[in-house]
Amino acid sequence: MRVLPGSRIRGTLQVPPDKSLSHRCLILGSLAEGKSVFWNLLPSADVASTRRVLKACGGNMTGDWNRMEVSRATFDKVEAHLDCGNSGTTVRLLSGVMASFANRFGLQGDASLSRRPMARIAVPLAKMGARFFDPSGKLLDPAAAQLPFSIQGSGKLQGIRWHNEKRSAQVKSALLLAGLRSEGGTTVVEPVGSRDHTERLLQMMGALLSLHGNEVHLEPSILSPLEFSVPGDFSSASFFLALAACHPNASLSLEGVNLNPTRTGFLQVLRQAGATIACTEQNGETEPRGSLQVHSGKMQGICISSDQVPSMVDEIPLVALLGVFAQGKTEVKGAGELRVKESDRITVLVQGLRNLGVEIHETDDGFWLEGPQAIRGGTADACGDHRMAMLFSLCGCLSREGVWVEGADSVSISYPSFFTHLEQICSGRG
Ligand code: S3P
Repeated sequence: MRVLPGSRIRGTLQVPPDKSLSHRCLILGSLAEGKSVFWNLLPSADVASTRRVLKACGGNMTGDWNRMEVSRATFDKVEAHLDCGNSGTTVRLLSGVMASFANRFGLQGDASLSRRPMARIAVPLAKMGARFFDPSGKLLDPAAAQLPFSIQGSGKLQGIRWHNEKRSAQVKSALLLAGLRSEGGTTVVEPVGSRDHTERLLQMMGALLSLHGNEVHLEPSILSPLEFSVPGDFSSASFFLALAACHPNASLSLEGVNLNPTRTGFLQVLRQAGATIACTEQNGETEPRGSLQVHSGKMQGICISSDQVPSMVDEIPLVALLGVFAQGKTEVKGAGELRVKESDRITVLVQGLRNLGVEIHETDDGFWLEGPQAIRGGTADACGDHRMAMLFSLCGCLSREGVWVEGADSVSISYPSFFTHLEQICSGRG
């Protein structure tokens, strides 16, 4: 995909439905007693992976992404090759569910997902009573677990108390989902709170869940069905917030965006850097939502440290884009988790930006750069990573000569209409 420079950013966008919430609706709906109805689910490749795996396990989902009815899945269909595609949320959350059913489930993924660490869920799930096997049937050391593997669940898992050192919402969610059908309570302790969508939905569905400071505690629970409309994805909105903040002639509105405070760390960072953003919050029963108006601004460099990472984990690469247009030094520290996302996002970011003429320095757990700089243009390889493809596309819009983005079709993982939206708001392409 070639993205040309744009002289003006204008318009209003309804960003796509939230990906994390869409996965959770399908999963939690498949565990509840009765029929749930979900509106506005994200029609993307990752959420389709969750639906596909659930269906293969005896899932009960009818309708389309605009309105889907979900009833209890049986989890009695034992499938050897459940394909999670590119989706870490699918494999990690569903491993938690599968661990609690007395069956063996074989899970696999694409090349990127097969490289990603699974020990973070396999170690605590094994302590609860699940077992992991490699494709030849050999028992796996959970500390070395990677896809493909099969998980032998148990109808008698034991609750656990677990320190979520990775600060990962996927780990926390996997353990809470396993804890729904365990004996005894499950507690997850977090040094810094990760996104809390699972807890909010579980509470709405009547789970026996309590929050004490930085601990979440769940007693085994039966879930009631839920009716819920998924708000827009703040992570998807962030690409356009960053574009407008960096562009000299921009004014943009983003509507219906999820404003859950465990997700909106990047909003604080944009404001701290000097971007002008107005926020109109509307009522959201389960999840806060609202609209955001953003204009061109004069920005200062900023420093991000590890405690800020969980609330903006998917937005960290965008901090580099702000840094290119901000005055002074911008630095990200304590973001080593980026190296085990859909790609090694630190290396892919630094290589890509360098190819486009930006001077940026890589560190073990982050990067730094001095601004302001210009983006000359050229070619950047997203290495099959949807968020990197969107970031390099923004670079094209902000560049002098335009950018060829390699691997641009990966946007279908989380934001299938990304290029349509970019085209819609960006005018004056050469
Ligand atoms: C997600 C949690 C985050 C995030 C991912 C979605 C979720 O991952 O990067 O895109 O839906 O729980 P970690 O939990 O590994 O930080």
